[in-house]
Amino acid sequence: MKKEIPADEGPDAFSGFPVVLCSVGGEKDNIITLALCHVFSFKPPLIGIGVAPKRFSYGLLEKGKDFAVNIPTKAQLKAVEVCGSKSGRRVDKFHVAGLTKEKASKISSPLIAECPVNLECVKVKQVETGDHVWFVGEVVAARMEESYDKADMLLYWGDYRVIGEKVD
Ligand SMILES: Cc1cc2nc3c(=O)[nH]c(=O)nc-3n(C[C@H](O)[C@H](O)[C@H](O)COP(=O)(O)O)c2cc1C
Repeated sequence: MKKEIPADEGPDAFSGFPVVLCSVGGEKDNIITLALCHVFSFKPPLIGIGVAPKRFSYGLLEKGKDFAVNIPTKAQLKAVEVCGSKSGRRVDKFHVAGLTKEKASKISSPLIAECPVNLECVKVKQVETGDHVWFVGEVVAARMEESYDKADMLLYWGDYRVIGEKVD
């Protein structure tokens, strides 16, 4: 039997969204933890990130031409929490999260060396949707650790998880 639930609690039914660390340059290089991240197109490869305007990163993303989507692993949960709780307005998140800047090949924003996957994105669209703005970027370069295992990737929606069993 289904029961009515408040409309704004409907999205709570999702089990998890990918946790990424977005690195963006500008007046100050910064990192923001995001769970609002989705593929918007395969050809061309477009990825969108949803960022609330009150975030320090929002201004950097608005002014800048590019950003990087870095995929951390479950072993990097501490850095994920630091980058998702401290603001670049007050701290240097590369320093406090113990992460290293790596030069990108095609964009000016830095990459995060410790993340096994780095996607270099050039901003192509900015869409306002309620309390978040979606920055859609074309992936123009990508690198992946040979040993990368998707099973180590974090998901978040209220709590942190990793992917479960394969269903055939
Ligand atoms: C797991 C997790 C997921 C998050 N997802 C988002 C998100 O999708 N969009 C967003 O605007 N903030 C998200 N946040 C909050 C920001 O990461 C957080 O407010 C951060 O401190 C903002 O940093 P900044 O002020 O340097 O931009 C998330 C935080 C955590 C811990």
